[in-house]
Amino acid sequence: MSSRAASGTETLLHVGDEARGRLWADVLPRLVPDLRVRQWPDLGDPREIRYLAAWTIPQGLMTTLPDLRFALSIGAGVDQLDIGMIPAALPLLRMAETAIVDGMVEYVTMSVLMLHRDTPHYHTEQAATRWSPRRRIAASARHIGVMGTGMLGGAVLERLASFGFALSGWSRSPKALPGVRCHTGMDELPAFLSDLDILVCLLPLTPETRGLLAAPVFQQLPPGAAVINVGRGAHLVAVDLLAAIDDNHLSAAILDVTDPEPLPADHPFWGHPRILLTPHVASSTDPAAAAQFVADAILRSREGKPLPGLVDRQAGY
Ligand code: NAP
Ligand code: GLV
Repeated sequence: MSSRAASGTETLLHVGDEARGRLWADVLPRLVPDLRVRQWPDLGDPREIRYLAAWTIPQGLMTTLPDLRFALSIGAGVDQLDIGMIPAALPLLRMAETAIVDGMVEYVTMSVLMLHRDTPHYHTEQAATRWSPRRRIAASARHIGVMGTGMLGGAVLERLASFGFALSGWSRSPKALPGVRCHTGMDELPAFLSDLDILVCLLPLTPETRGLLAAPVFQQLPPGAAVINVGRGAHLVAVDLLAAIDDNHLSAAILDVTDPEPLPADHPFWGHPRILLTPHVASSTDPAAAAQFVADAILRSREGKPLPGLVDRQAGY
């Protein structure tokens, strides 16, 4: 008798958006034989829960699930799960499906082009009823640097290359990406930053990257550079960004992520003419594509095969 049959119906517990939970409850049992999907807080028999999929994990939940095979972040990042709560021996996965990548490529391309074509300047001029054309600069004369050249940063660099921008990337381990000047580690951070026009942050949030977008990094960017943060809000030190923009060292910032989220109504970012905000919408998991990813992960887990999107617990991403 298989362990599945011995211990009841294998269950995936979904914590999060109920519409996605309903879709998964409908789709997943057709992709994965003998699987039931439950929507938190309906645990049923906790001993039957083998797979946990969540954006954030409710306090105390982990200790009530004695027989998990893996936990999965419903997102590319895992910091929001508070991974210290997840037993070190339990495989932790993160979502790695194409919709997350496509959304991020769209968002960063849009943001880079807005900065490249001086959109913050024209917004300010429009508000003041001024007709103030600026000389157009060729994409090839702009240097874009992407911090984090993983699943998302790598795809973003590939897309930006098609416009002819000069490109650099920064990662923890050495990389070779076609058409991209690659830099590695803190030692090479100054060289990476020194001649960028636009800095894009696509790092995971870890103890090493928390607060990295701060005065020391801004000071190493050339005057007039702009910043795009699509990583996590806690990568950025808000007062340092405001000081760098108000001193006219940095020209503008586009921020999809803030700390905290939602951003409080009295935060100076809201009304700043050279800061453009979006409410953490750069990219997100597509529920149907994600169901395929989850099904594949469960089937692989059952067969003892390598799991997709496996997080390196030591590295924290
Ligand atoms: P990933 O595939 O794990 O890639 C992470 C990249 O960051 C890798 O290149 C890694 O270097 C680099 N890195 C990590 N720590 C570093 C350090 N200390 N110094 C230098 N480089 C470092 O992650 P991803 O899928 O591209 O996602 C990146 C992040 O985007 C997520 O963690 C999440 O926070 C954010 N995100 C935001 C949104 C949004 O809507 N705003 C949506 C999805 C994701 P190595 O290549 O050497 O490992
Ligand atoms: C969104 O922020 C994600 O990590 O997928």
